[in-house]
Amino acid sequence: MIIKELRLRNFRNFKNIHITLNPKMNVITGNNGQGKTNLLESLVFLSTTKSHRINDDKKLIMIGEDLANIDCLYNDNIDKRISAVIHQKGKTLLINKNPVQKSSEFVGLLNVILFSPSDINIFNEAPRERRKVINLEITKVSKKYIDSLNKYHKLLKERNLALKRENIDNIYLNILENQLIDNQIIIINERNNFIKIINENINKYFKKLINDDLKINIEYQSCIKINDELKMKKDLKDMYINNFEKDKYNQLTNYGVHKDDILFKINDLNVNDFASQGQRRLVVMAFKLSLKDYIIKKTGKIPILLLDDVLSELDVNKQTNLLNCIDDNIQTIITTSVLSNSLKIINKELNIQTIESGNIIKNKEVIK
Ligand SMILES: Nc1ncnc2c1ncn2[C@@H]1O[C@H](COP(=O)(O)OP(=O)(O)OP(=O)(O)O)[C@@H](O)[C@H]1O
Ligand SMILES: [Mg+2]
Repeated sequence: MIIKELRLRNFRNFKNIHITLNPKMNVITGNNGQGKTNLLESLVFLSTTKSHRINDDKKLIMIGEDLANIDCLYNDNIDKRISAVIHQKGKTLLINKNPVQKSSEFVGLLNVILFSPSDINIFNEAPRERRKVINLEITKVSKKYIDSLNKYHKLLKERNLALKRENIDNIYLNILENQLIDNQIIIINERNNFIKIINENINKYFKKLINDDLKINIEYQSCIKINDELKMKKDLKDMYINNFEKDKYNQLTNYGVHKDDILFKINDLNVNDFASQGQRRLVVMAFKLSLKDYIIKKTGKIPILLLDDVLSELDVNKQTNLLNCIDDNIQTIITTSVLSNSLKIINKELNIQTIESGNIIKNKEVIK
């Protein structure tokens, strides 16, 4: 998958820009506060229909304007155009200029993986944030997962409401629980498969990045043990039965996939407890590189890598290691305030463009 052109109108600090990208490595330079992250954010928005930085879409509209427009021409065997119009009352998503009814039809069409300095927080944030990461990635490749997750959260709300009633209707509760169980089986299996695929390569990438013998892996902390379907169904049913009194007392469902977590381990120890800052950065990068393989495996399509200011956090050797982990057939957009030495020595063709106050001021300078 290759982005050919991106046009932004009234998006953040971009009044109207048109940027062309090359199929391999693109570098966006610029001083602080010029719009580098904003540009990548527009691509994340097209990929996921959300910003990675804020929940309120309206803040993406240039201050003083009514609507923002992101428009992208990309190639995925054939040329396709996708756009998003963000307005005061919501957003309209378009594929080849035709509005889509459900955002699930749009998510993942353009598949990007963002590397951002704040990714390092994944280790010490609440489990909810880690679940968000897994959900987002699986959602991009599996409609079945989106569907089950939406149904699960709707049913969970209904069960919590039912638990609040003075006279609890056990027959109704039982029907809800059976549906909750069916959806959880799909969610658990997809999450387990995700973890498995990530673990196939994460260690290989980590070794390439750090040149060290440390071992990393991730573990799925599920509400029940992974097993065959019948056994898992029984365990989930038991979970509702055994926790009924507690659920009734709290008037909410205490257990289930909405409490799942993933654990990052380095030499079998929790990354959050033992890894240094630098090691954390590299663990997260190895995770992102493995995500690329997950997407390729699940969709047969090569995602686009977005590296937002991550080089400056690494020493030159590690920067070079990271850049060497990126195959030539993967389109990459790197933002940086300083053109670091690693970019000059990796011997890859670079398309360098500079952003100044929301304008592209230098286009298509190629160095090799
Ligand atoms: N809705 C908006 N309307 C107008 N300008 C905005 C809007 N939202 C953010 N900005 C401006 O965008 C700029 C920040 O852009 P961005 O975060 O992309 O910077 P950056 O180039 O990534 O900088 P850094 O190197 O510090 O990360 C700020 O100047 C901010 O005022
Ligand atoms: Mg930035």
